[in-house]
Amino acid sequence: MSLQHPPLHTVHVPLGERAYDIVIAPDAIDSAGERLAAMFPGARYGIVTDQNVAEAQLPRLLASLDAAGLAHAEIVLPAGEATKSWTHLQTAVDAILAARLERNDILIALGGGVIGDLAGFAAAIARRGMDFVQIPTSLLAQVDSSVGGKTGINSGHGKNLVGAFHQPRLVLADQQALDTLPPRQFAAGYAEVVKYGLIDDEDFFFWLEANYPEIAAGGPARAEAIARACAAKARVVVEDEKETGVRALLNLGHTFGHALEKATGYSDRLLHGEGVAIGMALAHRFSARLGLAPSQDVGRIEAHLKAAGLPTTLADIPGDLPPTDTLMDAIAQDKKVSRGALTFILTRGIGKAFIERGVEAQAVKSFLEDMR
Ligand SMILES: NC(=O)c1ccc[n+]([C@@H]2O[C@H](COP(=O)([O-])OP(=O)(O)OC[C@H]3O[C@@H](n4cnc5c(N)ncnc54)[C@H](O)[C@@H]3O)[C@@H](O)[C@H]2O)c1
Ligand SMILES: [Zn+2]
Repeated sequence: MSLQHPPLHTVHVPLGERAYDIVIAPDAIDSAGERLAAMFPGARYGIVTDQNVAEAQLPRLLASLDAAGLAHAEIVLPAGEATKSWTHLQTAVDAILAARLERNDILIALGGGVIGDLAGFAAAIARRGMDFVQIPTSLLAQVDSSVGGKTGINSGHGKNLVGAFHQPRLVLADQQALDTLPPRQFAAGYAEVVKYGLIDDEDFFFWLEANYPEIAAGGPARAEAIARACAAKARVVVEDEKETGVRALLNLGHTFGHALEKATGYSDRLLHGEGVAIGMALAHRFSARLGLAPSQDVGRIEAHLKAAGLPTTLADIPGDLPPTDTLMDAIAQDKKVSRGALTFILTRGIGKAFIERGVEAQAVKSFLEDMR
């Protein structure tokens, strides 16, 4: 295959028969047609996207597919978390069937994590499984949700409770697409980038601290940050594809974060990545309080998250929070409780996270009370 602009980075995800590449390039959308034509001869394409992305990025993709002579149909859904529903799943699957896409055709998810999760699940079940390609357009989707094969929708019983593991055939991360992403969404995705440094790669965290201005501005440092984050997630996924062990480390900051998202009604008050930023700060503070982590690390992490425009404390959340008991109920629901003990991702400092299965619920509760 001859491409005019070679990719800056390719991360290979070695999952045997389901192995695939993540290509990170500033023109990944513009060169998608050429790349897809070479990879899937004769295939037709269904593109699932949302209204915002249809406006901001779909024209680039259509121009690229048209230039390569690839046939396509578009399925445009409303933007927002509420789209990850049975109703919109049905809309997507019906549109796939109405467009007469066959098993060897390709579904493209063009959008953030909402579209990636929904379209991936639609691909997993339409015609008993179709191939799909992720073209993530939010930072969160580029470094997190498009890697790893988890797909699905929300149910009235909770988030992400219905779904399937279905790996994409290819991921195209176009960092130029992030130029149209609202800054608050960029910051929220950046929290997940920082997470990979905090889990097990202090050098990456220090590199992020030093290079943040350039990452925010775009350019080579942004591509490198995305590539290093994808590589980090891919390593964990390959080790633990179906999440029975080490993949739990990716939940650093997420137990507190999910409880706060729930407490704020999954609303605009707190985006997922913002909850994760506060959750990571709290996980480090809590670890420091238990004497596990040095307290200067807590300050350093909070300073970097703040520099990236992220909240780090409960007080940073606009509006009132429910009582600590309600937060504890959410935490207990998120993590299985056995005899008053919770499973948490704790840390011995920057880059030294670990899974702790015996955290006392009472200790978490008094910690949260002191944080209010
Ligand atoms: N599958 C997984 O492993 C996994 C992991 C993490 C998160 N998720 C899921 O991801 C979802 C969150 O993803 P998200 O943060 O990307 O949310 P999202 O898909 O709602 O995107 C955020 C907002 O940005 C807009 N947008 C996206 N790209 C844009 C662009 N380039 N230009 C302009 N606007 C753009 C979207 O329309 C939306 O309004 C949640 O549903 C979460 O459960 C899944
Ligand atoms: Zn997350």
